[in-house]
Amino acid sequence: MERIKVSKSIVGEREAQALKSVIEDEYLGMGKYVREFEIKLGQYLDAQNVMCVNSGTAALHLAVMGAGIGPGDEVLIQSLTYVASFQAISAAGAVPVPCEIDPGTCTIDLKDAERKITGRTKAIMPVHYTGRVGPLDEIYSLARRYGLTVIEDAAHAFGTVYKGKMIGSFGDIICFSFDGIKNITSGEGGAVVTANPQVARFIKDARLVGVCKDTEKRYQGQRSWEFDVIHQGYRYHMSNLFAAIGITQLERLESEFKPKRQYLARRYTEFLKDIPEIIVFPDEYDLVVPHIFPLRVRNNKRDNMREYLNSNGIECGVHYLPNHLLTFYGGKKGQLPVTEEIYKQLLTIPLHPGLSDEMQNYIIEKIKDFFA
Ligand SMILES: Cc1ncc(COP(=O)(O)O)c(C=O)c1O
Repeated sequence: MERIKVSKSIVGEREAQALKSVIEDEYLGMGKYVREFEIKLGQYLDAQNVMCVNSGTAALHLAVMGAGIGPGDEVLIQSLTYVASFQAISAAGAVPVPCEIDPGTCTIDLKDAERKITGRTKAIMPVHYTGRVGPLDEIYSLARRYGLTVIEDAAHAFGTVYKGKMIGSFGDIICFSFDGIKNITSGEGGAVVTANPQVARFIKDARLVGVCKDTEKRYQGQRSWEFDVIHQGYRYHMSNLFAAIGITQLERLESEFKPKRQYLARRYTEFLKDIPEIIVFPDEYDLVVPHIFPLRVRNNKRDNMREYLNSNGIECGVHYLPNHLLTFYGGKKGQLPVTEEIYKQLLTIPLHPGLSDEMQNYIIEKIKDFFA
């Protein structure tokens, strides 16, 4: 059997055709395909303002800046996340304040977050780890109590539903990633969603090196030659090429990717839940579109299990090295004991829509062999 990848881009003839259309149209930059992608994302998510950018990291960076957060301000965030979340905060000159996680879901531990609020705290950035959103209502109540903005890192959670509502359809500022392996991809890319018109205005201009109303010009097929700039901007806009892939992927989400991801996650849960040394995350797959499938492996067996699966052609991942352990963010062990303990247990096994039953059965069999 071929080596099984932990995650994978699922693209083919349809995406190739979409790219061909953009090339034949001869405008690869930001134009009508990006506009169409934003409209379709807005319809799917039931969201008011959708701004596409060239990565999820750019989405988060602009969200932090759009919330008016800058040097000296603090943002509460779980340490267990991809470094991009931390980098988006520090790129704005603000300080990411690492918080503990709830071991049951690996989403932010709200009690710990509340303890870390100071006079400089401006926002909380919950990370929807695996696609799970944790106690989102309580996160918003805490934020309202202390006057904080919620910036949701929903990089993993495209398509997830919370209490009957799509993630992105409510809340302050929500950021998605469409990098190569996400629930949908645009090659690279991301989007910021917000109902706040001032934040939306800031992001529309900031993604186009700050040029005022350039978005509106580009969507009419024009360029801005005479313009003003009133704040710092970045070259973060999405290209028509990326958007064309994204539109096609969005069309495939409900019919293909979402049911397949949920099916695989349910099957793993069913077949692995009785192994005493493994803890699987709760089966919420009627609402959650799982982006990754991490397990918690007990009794210090994580590294041996990873080695065993790897030597049997199964690639695994570790999501994630806690950020407070990185030199740039303090590099001090012992600060977050729960996070540090859970980190040692986490092992992500393959999950992507290209995984066949046969491949999944093989992975399950090898995991059972390892513990037998
Ligand atoms: C939790 C989380 N946040 C942010 C990002 C950044 O997204 P991107 O890779 O599109 O910049 C990722 C992507 O891997 C992620 O997993």
